[in-house]
Amino acid sequence: MPQNLKQMKVDVLLGLQWGDEGKGKVVDVLTPKYDVVTRFQGGPNAGHTLEFNGEKYVLRSIPSGIFQGDKVNIIGNGVVLDPALFKAEAEALAQSGHDLTKRLYISKKAHLILPTHRLLDAAYEAAKGKNKVGTTGKGIGPTYTDKVSRTGVRIGDILLNFKEKYAAAVARHEQILKSLNFEYDLKALEPDWFAGIEYLKKFTFVDSEHVVNKLLADGKSVLAEGAQGTMLDIDFGSYPFVTSSNTICAGACTGLGIGPNKIGEVYGIFKAYCTRVGAGPFPTELFDNVGETICQLGHEYGAVTGRKRRCGWLDLVALKYSIMINGVTKLIMMKSDVLDDFDTIKICTAYKIDSQETTDFPFDIDSVKIEPVYKEFKGWKSDLTKITSESQFPKEFADYIKFIENETGVPVKIVSVGPDRTATIER
Ligand code: GDP
Ligand code: IMO
Ligand code: MG
Repeated sequence: MPQNLKQMKVDVLLGLQWGDEGKGKVVDVLTPKYDVVTRFQGGPNAGHTLEFNGEKYVLRSIPSGIFQGDKVNIIGNGVVLDPALFKAEAEALAQSGHDLTKRLYISKKAHLILPTHRLLDAAYEAAKGKNKVGTTGKGIGPTYTDKVSRTGVRIGDILLNFKEKYAAAVARHEQILKSLNFEYDLKALEPDWFAGIEYLKKFTFVDSEHVVNKLLADGKSVLAEGAQGTMLDIDFGSYPFVTSSNTICAGACTGLGIGPNKIGEVYGIFKAYCTRVGAGPFPTELFDNVGETICQLGHEYGAVTGRKRRCGWLDLVALKYSIMINGVTKLIMMKSDVLDDFDTIKICTAYKIDSQETTDFPFDIDSVKIEPVYKEFKGWKSDLTKITSESQFPKEFADYIKFIENETGVPVKIVSVGPDRTATIER
């Protein structure tokens, strides 16, 4: 490393709840401070929404740094990529004036989602019946399964013995599909997928671990954008109702190829309340009018599947757990404006299980009956979307933030008060 360069680090921004916290919006807001934006896990199960200049974009596999000047964007080795969906996403961006071919690099080690992975996703969900996970249906689980069982097909294989690897994988997958009596039409899916493979060849395939480490050594600043959220992490989430990757900060090390000593700030992002899409435990879920009102005011419908998101109060037990697992250094609170009209707002401070209170996130979250213990806050009853600086915060809102900071021991550095890029207050 040249003497005059300080050791640059990778700042990581990741979700602390069940996904959809608003990661895309904030990555876009923070991008001007960085030279490089990367994705390190997940795939097109993600839907990251950005709004600016009256336009709205939803990104699936492409990092949210692509709208802010000529930044380098990297899809890391931990990501799983569907060529057909990638092509559709990148072509739509190119049509709106954002050509990425020169500034988006893709790791050779990233795994390909095959059409049969999507079929397997559907077949496994059907076989689970009422116990289904409620996946996004994008083939995420089966693709990561093949990665771990050492039979996956990777981006770098496109330029090598691709045909044989594809055929071998499909033969294996078809055996499973047949054993599950799953009806499918692979021929209908393949043309788009192979067109996607051809399209991918326009991009530069890299050894992203070398690229990222070299960029750091050259004094470049890097932001890593998480997908999903900590409560969907394969190890620490509400298993088995989780996704199939490590969504946590450690995932940035394995998904980019950087040492833990190269991690800088860890931005933990959360909504002022909670949502979850798909099945699985959700201790603070609201089944009444309050939950419905949050859903409507927050437009809580999935960016990928359009499914209605389940809504509930902020869960500090889960939030503190997420902060611990990730080593969060700065908090970012989103969608504060959605709570503008409530007389009373609640935060869950503990779980009551078998009449015992606990603040530890339980192993058997999936099967125990949890009664949330709430602390009530007076609502701020004013329009936060009009606010441009911290000095204008209503007292009740400032109290809400202070309580979260005191409980978690981590400062809330950014507060978001609307979907647009500009509706962001840095403290
Ligand atoms: P991500 O997956 O974490 O990037 O989040 P999504 O894009 O799936 O979901 C977040 C949704 O909330 C998107 O529709 C955003 O436009 C919207 N959003 C983000 N921040 C705010 C905010 O502060 N207030 C409101 N009302 N909406 C927001
Ligand atoms: P972003 O990045 C919210 C959920 C699915 C399902 C579970 C497993 O936009 O925050 P999968 O298709 O990954 O096998 O589904 O995880 N899920 C998400 N929920 N936001 C996401 O991504 C999600 N990605 C997956 O609904 O419950
Ligand atoms: Mg999303």
